[in-house]
Amino acid sequence: MLRAGDLLVLTGPLGAGKTTFTRGLAESLGVRGPVQSPTFVIARTHPSLVGGPALVHVDAYRLGAAAELDDLDLDLERSVVVVEWGRGMADSLVDQWWDVEIERPVGADESLADEDLDADAPRVVTVRRVGA
Ligand SMILES: Nc1ncnc2c1ncn2[C@@H]1O[C@H](COP(=O)(O)OP(=O)(O)O)[C@@H](O)[C@H]1O
Ligand SMILES: [Mg+2]
Repeated sequence: MLRAGDLLVLTGPLGAGKTTFTRGLAESLGVRGPVQSPTFVIARTHPSLVGGPALVHVDAYRLGAAAELDDLDLDLERSVVVVEWGRGMADSLVDQWWDVEIERPVGADESLADEDLDADAPRVVTVRRVGA
């Protein structure tokens, strides 16, 4: 249901599934992959293979402020934009966005939870429409 101009802010701890979620989104939108953890690249554009909007995948982890996100000059109007670690940065860019919070269950023993990080497990995903 996403259209050009839509922006999603993904929030959740390391390993919550933000990049995995973005991969699924890329597949559904029909954009060129692969979607990777943008460790060294702050923003990557995945063009559509089906004549739809491109997917812009941003990792805001290393960005100090919303102004730096603005400096990237993202083509917000014509793309679907996903920002990992972008909470608190969207409001200066757009009027409305989707806030997506992903929680991974943590057991009483945290180390055990870390070991199992890659194994398929349920996530709790809360999607909220934010803005005007
Ligand atoms: N339900 C799930 N949703 C998303 N990721 C999951 C799920 N279950 C297990 N995983 C695993 O958790 C890891 C999430 O990693 P990643 O998407 O890179 O997280 P993040 O980008 O939030 O740091 C992946 O190894 C993925 O296979
Ligand atoms: Mg990630």
